[in-house]
Amino acid sequence: MPTLTFIEHNGAEHLVAGEIGQSVMQAATFASVPGIPADCGGACSCATCHAYVDEQWLASLPALEDMENDMLEYAFERRENSRLTCQLVIDESMDGMVLRLPESQF
Ligand code: FES
Repeated sequence: MPTLTFIEHNGAEHLVAGEIGQSVMQAATFASVPGIPADCGGACSCATCHAYVDEQWLASLPALEDMENDMLEYAFERRENSRLTCQLVIDESMDGMVLRLPESQF
C-alpha cells in the first residue's frame, strides 16, 4: 500500500496507508486526517479537499483537468502546487508522497 504523508498547517504529520484506486481525499478522510472536510464527497464541486503537493511529486501527477482547475479558483490561497485531493487517484508511484494542508479550506 502506498503511504502518504499529510502535514497540517500547524505541522502535525499524519502517515496514511492508501489503497490503490482510492482517491487521496478518501485515504485522508477514512484515516480522519483533520482539515479535509471534502464537503461534496469527491464530486469536484467544493474545493474543500485542497492540498499543496510537494514539488518532487507534482510532475508525476496527472495534469489538471479543466474542472479541477476551475474549482481551484475557489480554494483558499491557491498556489502552483495546489491540487484537489479528490481528483488524485492513488497508485504505486505515489508511495511517499507528501501533501501539506492549507491554513483553511474556506
Ligand atoms: Fe469537493 Fe474535492 S471533495 S472538490
